Amino acid sequence: MSAIFALANQKGGVAKTTTTGILAAGLKKQGFSVLTIDCDPQGNLSMSVAAENQDSATMYEVMKGTASAREAIQHTSSCDIIPANTILAGIEQELHNVGKEMTLREKLRDEQTGVAEEYDYILIDCPPSLGLLTVNALTAADYLLIPTMAET
Ligand SMILES: Nc1ncnc2c1ncn2[C@@H]1O[C@H](COP(=O)(O)OP(=O)(O)OP(=O)(O)O)[C@@H](O)[C@H]1O
Ligand SMILES: [Mg+2]
Repeated sequence: MSAIFALANQKGGVAKTTTTGILAAGLKKQGFSVLTIDCDPQGNLSMSVAAENQDSATMYEVMKGTASAREAIQHTSSCDIIPANTILAGIEQELHNVGKEMTLREKLRDEQTGVAEEYDYILIDCPPSLGLLTVNALTAADYLLIPTMAET
């Protein structure tokens, strides 16, 4: 079973995405298998690892249930990633079901199509807000990392 980390802080620009990418690269270098999940409609992590996020299954399709987590994974030279694009922003208005906060947790741990058994680490890069996407990441995660800007 993976150790699942959410990298979250409702403040923007505090290095959530940078930390996700660097941690993934470091863990991979140590020999661990790592999946990153871009949970931010800005898609910055997807862009930073050159994932294809226009014509492929993304986090939006995973959250909607039209693609499985396994189907949405891309293998890049940096890390494995489930990418995201701006369409993901709409998910906050599109999920209405009871238990929608558990969506990502259930997708990752699904016995047939989940991927939580296949990686040592899963790192979830969150958007700079405390909306449904971040709540889904926090619900799916075992650990929370909160990057902060060191200020006096
Ligand atoms: N250790 C660092 N020292 C200096 N600049 C950094 C450091 N880490 C990240 N940055 C820069 O800070 C900016 C914001 O980083 P990043 O995109 O990782 O933040 P973020 O928290 O993911 O932002 P957002 O909330 O928009 O998703 C980027 O320009 C990045 O290059
Ligand atoms: Mg970011």
